[in-house]
Amino acid sequence: MRTMLKAGIFGATGYTGFRLVDIVRRHPEVEIGFATSERSAGSRLSDVFACPWDIALIAAGDAPLDEVDAAFLCLPHGASIPAVQRVVEAGVRAIDLSADFRLSDPQVYEQWYNTPHTATDLLAEAVYGLPELHREAVAGARLVANPGCYPTSVILGLYPLAKQNLISGNSVIVDSKSGVSGAGRGLSLKTHFVEAHANFSPYNIGHQHRHIPEMEAELSAALDRPLSVTFSPHLLPTNQGILSTMYVTLVEPWSESELLSLYGETYAGEPFVHVLPAGDLATLRHVVNTNRCTISLTLAGEDQLIVCAAIDNLIKGASGQAVQNFNVMFGLEETTGLET
Ligand SMILES: NC(=O)c1ccc[n+]([C@@H]2O[C@H](COP(=O)([O-])OP(=O)(O)OC[C@H]3O[C@@H](n4cnc5c(N)ncnc54)[C@H](OP(=O)(O)O)[C@@H]3O)[C@@H](O)[C@H]2O)c1
Repeated sequence: MRTMLKAGIFGATGYTGFRLVDIVRRHPEVEIGFATSERSAGSRLSDVFACPWDIALIAAGDAPLDEVDAAFLCLPHGASIPAVQRVVEAGVRAIDLSADFRLSDPQVYEQWYNTPHTATDLLAEAVYGLPELHREAVAGARLVANPGCYPTSVILGLYPLAKQNLISGNSVIVDSKSGVSGAGRGLSLKTHFVEAHANFSPYNIGHQHRHIPEMEAELSAALDRPLSVTFSPHLLPTNQGILSTMYVTLVEPWSESELLSLYGETYAGEPFVHVLPAGDLATLRHVVNTNRCTISLTLAGEDQLIVCAAIDNLIKGASGQAVQNFNVMFGLEETTGLET
């Protein structure tokens, strides 16, 4: 009989942690080894969420790391660093959904997160877990930094252009909208029903959002020169989903069919990236509750391209991508347990 893999989930009572529980419990090759919560330790998951899953919640400090093959960390940034250290020291492979291991330069981390990084050795070895770009490195990693939700949509949306050196100038403009679950389950005035419902607001626009350094690092690496991202995120009054609209001046005129071929070739064989035919536009409906990134291309002038990329922030932007990385790390079929 084939032995099931076991995975622990830190922060199972958050939005991404709960989605991970849901994906892992349906995954045919892995079972949940433990699930943690600080505030609800001693309760069951069914006490916290409207679900029938009788899963015990334990404090992170009591996690039986010797019983699992991998751990998903769905904790706030800062809290993830010591937890990841414990996981890796126990010889368990870690997939961290927080921002703590996404920025390879500790000074950049300190600049954006206002605190020094306290595990620079692990930071140096962490692999940025966007499988479409870094599959081979993910496969051999003991620590994978799962990308941010906005960056997943933006990097996948612009990567074919960056790799082909088709982006003119040294900056792009990105306008993104995210459902309210992107802010996590904690209470805040901004995500209060009456503030968010029937409203639509920009926030942290310009060069302020903490996801910017990830986007710039990955796109600059693909382009092989620095690229700056002018980024306008918005809070969309819906639960899940991100739509990023990106405005690019091309270095030379390209036809829509040439651009579609470029994207089609770049993502050929990628089970989760769907490039729409000419004339279609990416929407949240294409992606919500799936691990898909759906991309559309629109020429607005012979060298002006608008790229739209849609993902579900909790799935391809977080828990689904984490399981995709897990599948790659453990040599499983990459789509196992995931909606393509
Ligand atoms: N939401 C998204 O769309 C999204 C997408 C990509 C990445 N992320 C990242 O993924 C991580 C989790 O996000 P989320 O939206 O799931 O957050 P969330 O809903 O606020 O959940 C946070 C989880 O962490 C636990 N927790 C909080 N403080 C802790 C501490 N000091 N030590 C141990 N556990 C602690 C909470 O447990 P208790 O409150 O039960 O104790 C809860 O289970 C964050 O780093 C976030 O930036 C989120």
